[in-house]
Amino acid sequence: ACSKASASPLLNFKGVPVQIDPQFDRVLVAEGYRAVPFFSWGDPVEAGAPAWNPDASDDWQAQLKQAGDNHDGMDFFAFPGESDRGLLVMNHEYINPPLHPSGKIDQTKPRPLAEVRKEQAAHGVSVIEVKQGADGQWQRVMDSPYNRRISMLTGMRIAGPLAGHELMKTASDPSGLEVFGTLNNCATGVTPWGTFLTCEENWPNYFINRDKADFAARISHKRYGLAQEGTSKNYAWETADPRFDATPYADQLHGGHVQEPHRFGWVVEIDPFDPQAQPIKRTAFGRFSRECAALSLGTDGRMAFYSGDDAKGEYVYKFVPAGRFDAGNPKASRDLLDSGTLYVARFDADGSGQWLALVHGQNGLDVASGFASQEEVLLNARAAADRVGATPMDRPEWAAVHPSTREVYVTLTNNDGRGAKQPLDKANPRPQNLHGQILRFNEKNADPTATTFTWELFLLAGEPQGAKGQDGKAVAVNLTGTINGDLFSSPDGLAFDAHGRLWIQTDYDDIEPAMQSMGCNQLLCADPRTREVRRFMVGPRGCEITGLAWSPDGKAMWANIQHPGISFPGSDGKSRPRSTTVLITKLDGGVIGS
Ligand code: FEO
Ligand code: CA
Ligand code: CA
Ligand code: CA
Repeated sequence: ACSKASASPLLNFKGVPVQIDPQFDRVLVAEGYRAVPFFSWGDPVEAGAPAWNPDASDDWQAQLKQAGDNHDGMDFFAFPGESDRGLLVMNHEYINPPLHPSGKIDQTKPRPLAEVRKEQAAHGVSVIEVKQGADGQWQRVMDSPYNRRISMLTGMRIAGPLAGHELMKTASDPSGLEVFGTLNNCATGVTPWGTFLTCEENWPNYFINRDKADFAARISHKRYGLAQEGTSKNYAWETADPRFDATPYADQLHGGHVQEPHRFGWVVEIDPFDPQAQPIKRTAFGRFSRECAALSLGTDGRMAFYSGDDAKGEYVYKFVPAGRFDAGNPKASRDLLDSGTLYVARFDADGSGQWLALVHGQNGLDVASGFASQEEVLLNARAAADRVGATPMDRPEWAAVHPSTREVYVTLTNNDGRGAKQPLDKANPRPQNLHGQILRFNEKNADPTATTFTWELFLLAGEPQGAKGQDGKAVAVNLTGTINGDLFSSPDGLAFDAHGRLWIQTDYDDIEPAMQSMGCNQLLCADPRTREVRRFMVGPRGCEITGLAWSPDGKAMWANIQHPGISFPGSDGKSRPRSTTVLITKLDGGVIGS
């Protein structure tokens, strides 16, 4: 199951085979490379953090200073003028039961506050300084003043059109200007001025509104699918922390916390080089289950940030700041993300596409259609996108922009509801789409701010045409794809390196019957010109592989092993699974992939 030598000048490594062993508990990387654990859940980050306790008995105060759980999107920020020292910044998306000594989270009883606080502390972002040692190997700088944890308990400023708006006010923040924390931080973005953008994905899972009549009328809850009975989907924090009970209470200021869910679903800008700076929620980007904010920078300083909204039948968006980036005056960029235009994509059957502006007074977005103002359009971006006729997609995850052509690639990870809940179309062509696809598009004149584009499918993931299953029968046609090279399912993470290699990371449930031939989750590399795909690395059972960053010389690469389902990185059959960043280098010291 390894791919053969090819004509691609970009893929200069031998592919690794799928790993179907149900006990596979390691990382396997291509021959000639080394992958070592670098940064795991619980590792000390901030000054005074205790060493991680293998029985998970560290309390929430310790967790606030230690690495969070579920490492996801990640970026490297070089210190200006230095190529051997930088800040590695990564998201901690959510948490797993092994966070606690019992290895369990019981949502059938009120949650203990100490557990809830530890879970909140394990969400967010880590900033860690890294540098190259005398031996050339990258290592952490344990006492760096830049080492920082941001969590669900960190104060943040709300900026942009919704700052201080009536719809952002709650019992605990009557100003509508400040919020504690960031949630479900999945993929990321970077700005040309060197800040990190963390994106709030599945925030609706953390709230509940038990008032049926209110829920039915409140589009800002209903369209995002908050829980209505029992507990919130994730962790039942509302049983210990009333901020997550979004039921309206008429006797409380601003109805209690009914508007708290309005304060999540945004892009949060963090300056990793200023450890004192408050993170800033940028509301001009609009609110949805935001997967990423991938930058495209034009030669004249105009920009776009591309985002998926990862749910079945949701949309692809871009945000175009009104201003331009001026490299000669980076301080002037401070508030560039507070004004601009949010667009949503329509993919037409003839291979053309339109960016539809989500602007009050345009495209039918007005009072008569239920949008009182531009602020409500941004807050209810999904409903606005429904109204303008955007194309419902197969769970849009990451976007990646080619470093020289600015061609944009988007992963559509899978959608088992396609064909039933959403009709088939050219961009989403398979019913019960378990394996997903990668789509690519070119903006008119390679201008990030264009309102038209052309698009095509780069590949459909899944089994080769004519493949037979373990039962000897032909694989169903909707599970076959067009991969030129190594087998995979459910593309999710996606990033270009500086040389134009397209790296693809997968996220599928490796115990599902349809995934048996795929084995454990994978990191693959594709040549965008020849479309060849080769498997570079495989992770341990139960993990997702996500997040990718490089040193400035491309000779070190970091990738995240998220939620391993087996003992890892201990790989001893007994120690707790820990989400872990691995550092990958080439044994001959060369550029990764070369
Ligand atoms: Fe957190 Fe859509 O992945
Ligand atoms: Ca993802
Ligand atoms: Ca995913
Ligand atoms: Ca994930």
